Amino acid sequence: MPDNSSYLVVPSAALWLFILVIVGISSLTLAVVLSRARQARNAKLARMEAGPVRSPLPEFEKNGQSAAAALVQWSPETLRHILAKELPDAQVIVVSNREPYIHNRDGDDIQLVVPASGLVSALEPITRACAGTWIAYGGGSADTLVVDENDRIAVPPENPSYTLRRVWLSEEEQQGYYLGFANEGLWPLCHIAFTRPIFRASDWEAYEAVNRKFADTVVAEARNERPIVLVQDYHFALLPRMIRERLPEAIIITFWHIPWPNSEVFSICPWREKILEGLLGSSIVGFHTQFHCNNFIDSVDRFLESRIEREDSAISYGGQISLVHAYPISIEWEPARQAQLPDVAECRRHVREKFGLADDVRLCVGVERLDYTKGILDRFTALDELLRLHPEWIGKVAFLQIAAPSRGTLPAYQQLHDECLRQAEDLNRRYGRDGYTPVLMVTEHHSQEQVYEIYRAADVCMVTSLHDGMNLVAKEFVAARDDEQGVLLLSMFAGASKELLEALIVNPYDATMMGDALLQALTMSPDEQRQRMQRMREVVRDNNVYRWAGSMLLDAARLRKRVAVDRAVGAAPTSSGNVISLLDRRRVAAL
Ligand code: F6P
Repeated sequence: MPDNSSYLVVPSAALWLFILVIVGISSLTLAVVLSRARQARNAKLARMEAGPVRSPLPEFEKNGQSAAAALVQWSPETLRHILAKELPDAQVIVVSNREPYIHNRDGDDIQLVVPASGLVSALEPITRACAGTWIAYGGGSADTLVVDENDRIAVPPENPSYTLRRVWLSEEEQQGYYLGFANEGLWPLCHIAFTRPIFRASDWEAYEAVNRKFADTVVAEARNERPIVLVQDYHFALLPRMIRERLPEAIIITFWHIPWPNSEVFSICPWREKILEGLLGSSIVGFHTQFHCNNFIDSVDRFLESRIEREDSAISYGGQISLVHAYPISIEWEPARQAQLPDVAECRRHVREKFGLADDVRLCVGVERLDYTKGILDRFTALDELLRLHPEWIGKVAFLQIAAPSRGTLPAYQQLHDECLRQAEDLNRRYGRDGYTPVLMVTEHHSQEQVYEIYRAADVCMVTSLHDGMNLVAKEFVAARDDEQGVLLLSMFAGASKELLEALIVNPYDATMMGDALLQALTMSPDEQRQRMQRMREVVRDNNVYRWAGSMLLDAARLRKRVAVDRAVGAAPTSSGNVISLLDRRRVAAL
């Protein structure tokens, strides 16, 4: 019988050998695979570590229109949240010429006035929410009496939540900087109203000196090297660079509340380069509309040696980048004043009684500072057209113009005042009857409560600016009408016409169109009024002033993060220490 045992042993040894070889090869393969995977992982980790340089941070919100911003319900709470989360420890400093609260002597008493200013009504709720510091010219006759030894006062008086720091200006400073350069020079330069700008060297010197004085105050009020400074308007074109030189790490956001002219018009200004250089000290320069951003960028392109990245709306000048963005300003929602007012029926009754209007007379209103950019005279023309072509409306419609006195020592404003009175008298003489005065011209300051009561009493609100950055009266009227009634006539040359599309949009220079629009407004059915008003209220609610400020603060936070990232990866900061050039960033990313 054959011995099978050896037969069995031989194949078993070969098998073991075979298994060993297979296991060896597999282990080797596994080791190679693992090592490759480890290498890949390490490489990925290395890429991730180097990521901040290459992966772009979230894009800046452009024109306040990013999808994320649109989903947010903007409120004071949202602003506080942004500050706490995105800008912890940031000190917010607001700078404007006009102060939010004016203390005036009234015999032995002191009277508190909130000025008629869109800028003030927009910034006040924000500064409250941020518990910031507001630096402004102390122009009230009792302003010096109520401040502490550091020229500060806690406001609002009824519920102090932020600090107002007053800056004192001499008569000469006020004359040269405010009335002269700002209001006889820049104001007519920036508004297409065909009023010739006046530029005097002495005004320019005062403007420079006052900007310097405010820069000193900002530096004195800054608690650290990196405040967020919100510079307001055409009174302070030189201030951003002056602050930048002394607080290189500050985030400076300058908002220009009025239009920016095209570069041809801007070239009229003898100090055009200095103005542009001053503004380009800002981290961000903001305007109400993209159109005015484009005009500003074109002006820089024409007059300064700079690099412009139009796609990013970024300008590199003198080694520093400024972003140029559109942030459409708005009002608070719900307006605080609204809560204190009675219902619309009661407001109507009270306003009619106050101005001696019969019950069946339809009321058109205009509310603003007495300014030649507002198209007040064109409203008189519109009323004249209506009453001339449709005499059946004589006795049935009245126009109430509330005009807060403004810059009254300047000839252009005095002429407007006289012309308004003359035309109002003329219309009243031609169309007035016993007990019927078609035009009521009231050139007095009105409180916000009084203004809101008038909005609520009106059938039609006329906002017919010849040129206007935004115009907040249009938005206030819409906000005031929680009854969803009333018609807004809105100039196509006001920034608000880009948002309030359901208004009756008019060209104030076209008398026929204005007269027709007035007739259309007066005959509009309640149902159509409701539909239009509902839509406009949604727009103002969603794009309220907290969104305006929040968009700027978010942009400020993103700038700050960029600086932090660039520091962490050792990228060379720009000479101002502010932001890394977007252009350089892009070049690095492309390598
Ligand atoms: O329109 C820009 C603006 O700064 C407004 O905020 C304000 O109504 C006006 O100009 C300035 O008015 P005043 O010269 O009376 O401060």
